[in-house]
Amino acid sequence: MLKKLLSLKDQVVIDLKNAITVNEVGNIKALYLGKKSPLQELMAKMKDLSIEEKKEIGMATNEFKRFVEDAVIKRLSEINELEIQNKLNSEEIDVTLPGRKFRSGKLHPLTKIARQVEEIFIGMGYKVEEGPEIEQDLYNFEMLNLPKGHPAREMQDSFYIDNNTLLRTHTSPVQVRTLLKAKGEPVKIICPGKVYRRDNDDATHSHQFMQIEGLVVDKNITMADLKGTLELLCKRIFGENLKIRLRPSFFPFTEPSVEVDVTCFKCGGNGCGLCKQSGWIEVLGAGMVHPNVLEMAGYDSKVYQGFAFGLGIERFAMLKYEIDDIRHFYTNDPRFLKQF
Ligand code: DAH
Repeated sequence: MLKKLLSLKDQVVIDLKNAITVNEVGNIKALYLGKKSPLQELMAKMKDLSIEEKKEIGMATNEFKRFVEDAVIKRLSEINELEIQNKLNSEEIDVTLPGRKFRSGKLHPLTKIARQVEEIFIGMGYKVEEGPEIEQDLYNFEMLNLPKGHPAREMQDSFYIDNNTLLRTHTSPVQVRTLLKAKGEPVKIICPGKVYRRDNDDATHSHQFMQIEGLVVDKNITMADLKGTLELLCKRIFGENLKIRLRPSFFPFTEPSVEVDVTCFKCGGNGCGLCKQSGWIEVLGAGMVHPNVLEMAGYDSKVYQGFAFGLGIERFAMLKYEIDDIRHFYTNDPRFLKQF
């Protein structure tokens, strides 16, 4: 029996070599040293042996036990090494792989136009003002020379909060607010912002859109100042080679009032789809500040003059980028937005 036990040593070595997990090694250890192992069987029989035999077999079983335990420890440390090596191999970093691209966002086309216009005017010494989107009838209409019942109010129906409070229909009320704040001092501002109209949305109408207002009030301001300023604006936005033309128009808060056209920047004025074969594109409204507006805001219209203008940011963006539907700006389809 002892012989048999000692002959198992080779098998222990083979079994351990085949074991590749800690569990398997544990099972093998139990197989050779555990309760039902040949070793335990032999030891159970020892009590019937002579002292001489006990000594011999005792030494041999101890030696076998130590042999198995040492082999197990050795195998476990090999497995541990192997696992570390596998982990290192599988987590190897290939530094030659190309990097992953981060997709970064972009400015919205309306923000881009607004910032371009702001930059142009800041460069000419204008301040950027803001005003509330919930506005008083007083500033949105009355102090802009649009008294209650004025027919021109019809073109700018709005959303009313009460009889005297509405969502502003244009950025022009910021003219009034700025003049009141300036208390008779010269003013040179632009004001970008959202405006609201009670319009049904379609390709060219939106119940909410954006404008940039401009206002200059000082002594000796003439229409030449207005024309020069707007020419510079249009050239910077639409192209240095274009010409501008002022057509008589009507706004209650300016006199005279003009509609500003630029030569078509797509066809150069020869006529194309964008300018509807006319060679000209209407881009904004403007005029000399009406004396009534100046007087209501506390300015002596004999001493002070001013010019004002109002442009639609969507309109600018649609013309510049040839966008055919205003609703694209608000539906936020990334396929649209990433083109700018
Ligand atoms: N407020 C006008 C509108 O929304 C645009 C406008 C025209 C503004 C002429 C002005 C101006 O300041 O002088 O239709």
